[in-house]
Amino acid sequence: MAFWEGWCGGKGDGCCDDCSWTQLAIWAAAIVVVGGLITVLVLAFGVVFPPKATADDAVLQRFALAPADPASNSTISFNVTATVSLRNPNMYRAIEYGALAVTFSFNGTRFDDSASVPGFKHKARKTATLSVRVGGVGKPIKLTRPGVGEFRAENDTGSFGVEMRLDTVLQYKGRSAKCPLVVVCPLQLQLVDPDVAATAFQRTKCTILRAKKSGC
Ligand SMILES: *[C@@H]1O[C@H](CO)[C@@H](O)[C@H](O)[C@H]1NC(C)=O
Ligand SMILES: *[C@@H]1O[C@H](CO)[C@@H](O)[C@H](O)[C@H]1NC(C)=O
Ligand SMILES: *[C@@H]1O[C@H](CO)[C@@H](O)[C@H](O)[C@H]1NC(C)=O
Ligand SMILES: *[C@@H]1O[C@H](CO)[C@@H](O)[C@H](O)[C@H]1NC(C)=O
Repeated sequence: MAFWEGWCGGKGDGCCDDCSWTQLAIWAAAIVVVGGLITVLVLAFGVVFPPKATADDAVLQRFALAPADPASNSTISFNVTATVSLRNPNMYRAIEYGALAVTFSFNGTRFDDSASVPGFKHKARKTATLSVRVGGVGKPIKLTRPGVGEFRAENDTGSFGVEMRLDTVLQYKGRSAKCPLVVVCPLQLQLVDPDVAATAFQRTKCTILRAKKSGC
């Protein structure tokens, strides 16, 4: 007798007497389905993924160093605008960010920490875009002597390596831990003349640094 005939038998209501193998098969299938469901739920709710970041656009309108002796007494005049996008890769978990402190450095030396982005709530699977604009005239930059040499070399090419860094503390929805997070974006910036057509910016991936802390 075929399996399916044994189960349904055409009678309609419920199971007949000789269907224990069928019941067993149904139970086994149910266990597999429940197991799969638990795996999906653990991935969706039990594991947290940090945000991903890319620098989408950046413009350098001015970057002029006034070298001094000692090199650490140098000053710099600059105008930088940058746009960074943050993506929340979690399936169901929102992320709540505290204020993001923005700093810029050249050759490992910080030259601006004036900007910050207010904290915000980041829904699951969404991308948020942050824009920052900083400028200064004759701001001190504690460069080293090789740093001044590096500036001169890059000045000759008109393209500068500037690092943008975002420091924040975030909280995943449903978790109590406050997680420090750092986003580091290495930007290669072509000095632009505002009167001339804007130069193309190469979209760059930023590095995410997470605190080794439970729940983060
Ligand atoms: C360098 O800066 C320090 C502190 O701002 C100051 O005391 C010193 O006179 C400066 N040196 C030169 C050569 O300007
Ligand atoms: C700064 O520039 C010097 C000279 O080019 C280089 O040797 C050094 O690695 C640079 N440091 C950083 C942090 O980029
Ligand atoms: C550059 O920044 C300085 C200081 O913030 C500002 O006064 C100036 O207008 C800015 N220039 C441009 C072209 O944005
Ligand atoms: C950078 O280059 C500009 C012209 O391209 C020049 O006027 C300036 O003196 C240079 N700065 C340094 C520190 O070498």
